[in-house]
Amino acid sequence: MSAEPETTPAERPAILVVEDDDGYRALLIEELEDAGYRLTGVADAAAARAELASRSAALVLSDLRLPGEDGLALLEATRALTPRPGFIMLTGFGTIRQAVAALKAGADDFLTKPIDLEHLRLAVARVLETRQLQAEVARYREVLAGGQFHGMLGKSPAMRALYDLIRRIAPSDSSVLITGESGTGKELVARALHAESARAAAPFVAVNCAGIPEALLESELLGHAAGAFSGARGARKGLFVEADGGTLFLDEIAEMPPAMQTRLLRLLQDGRVRPVGANTEIGTDVRIVAATHRELGERIAEGHFREDLYYRLETFRIHVPSLRERGEDIAALLQHFLLAQTAAREGHVRRFAPAAWRALLSYPYPGNVRELASLVERAATLAPTPEIGLDDLPERVRAEADAHPRSGALAAPPLPGSDEDWETLAAVEARYIRSVLEWTEGNKQRAAKILGIGRKTLYRKLEEQGRHDT
Ligand SMILES: Nc1ncnc2c1ncn2[C@@H]1O[C@H](COP(=O)(O)OP(=O)(O)OP(=O)(O)O)[C@@H](O)[C@H]1O
Ligand SMILES: [Mg+2]
Repeated sequence: MSAEPETTPAERPAILVVEDDDGYRALLIEELEDAGYRLTGVADAAAARAELASRSAALVLSDLRLPGEDGLALLEATRALTPRPGFIMLTGFGTIRQAVAALKAGADDFLTKPIDLEHLRLAVARVLETRQLQAEVARYREVLAGGQFHGMLGKSPAMRALYDLIRRIAPSDSSVLITGESGTGKELVARALHAESARAAAPFVAVNCAGIPEALLESELLGHAAGAFSGARGARKGLFVEADGGTLFLDEIAEMPPAMQTRLLRLLQDGRVRPVGANTEIGTDVRIVAATHRELGERIAEGHFREDLYYRLETFRIHVPSLRERGEDIAALLQHFLLAQTAAREGHVRRFAPAAWRALLSYPYPGNVRELASLVERAATLAPTPEIGLDDLPERVRAEADAHPRSGALAAPPLPGSDEDWETLAAVEARYIRSVLEWTEGNKQRAAKILGIGRKTLYRKLEEQGRHDT
């Protein structure tokens, strides 16, 4: 074989052509297939929607005039998709006004019929390149911000599903109930919901229902009129009003006193608050996000929580997985919090000793991410050397090292302490290549570029590794 393929078929960008003229559609498809893309063609917007619902496309090339729904309606529909495909509108000669309307509606480009094929190729390449750059920038932003998704770290399938659910629920105004064990990141989820919603520019107000004495909670939330009770000097806006237009996060909702539960239910029903001691009500537009680590079902059965309020809050429910359910995230979290400590302490502690690393990877973390973070902080504070050793960890974690001596299933320690812990160059290389490929989502061309080697070399290395893996 002399020339290696540019890309494998699965890596070629997918383009959907929507054009009712059979001959013209075939021409466009042939032209773009020759240019190295994967093509699908349909004759109307309904078929295009069905196609996009089952398979994502990098780019939609659609005629403006279609039987049934037109190209503009299809454009509108594609804007709701994630990831959103690029869109090029094909317009008839002399319809420049419509072309401009298409751009305004969010199309990336338009082409006027009869289409110059050279121009078509250029426009398609340009739009696809811009899309890819935008996706990359978004990803770098996330990484720079210290997390994958609004401060949340974790690439496990469970966390990816969580990010996805947040993105889908965020735009709605309905209440959300977040459940999950203590320390799993429920508050981060609440903040992400707010940040992903149209309310992002308005306030996010958090209140811990368990942390405020019952007598004060009502006036905290609803506000009070001047002189409503002894000690209430001036009038005070409640948090419901402060959060107007935004999100009110009711943490530890299971601890909310019964009287307050009743008021909250009313408020959710008619969107109005009556401050304590006031005669008038104030309208407010807040989205309620509540969280609890408790089984609300039990609280209801015990008569501590109103069932009707529960159903009202639980329009959407997000369960945050425990760390045990996403063990593959533990290594990245440990590295992340160690790095944070290193930065905070001017680089004193730099690494985990292999035995400590293994123990930390197998420990079950009943206190989830919060426990993991504080373990690392404590160890980094105590460690007398730049390396966190087994002795710097609490007994409950140390016990894991004895329970799993040299567990082969675990990743290699980040920085070894004895001869046999060092990896071979081939193993390090294989691991590094795998991470780069993960980063490029399997795109070998980009991976080769990052690695500074030719694609041929990369294919050869992967082939060799494949042989060793089996
Ligand atoms: N996926 C994550 N990535 C990075 N940090 C996280 C993640 N999840 C949680 N944390 C951190 O762990 C700590 C606990 O998270 P959070 O306060 O959101 O937990 P919680 O579920 O509200 O717990 P509780 O029920 O005890 O209130 C916080 O410091 C948070 O920043
Ligand atoms: Mg919390």
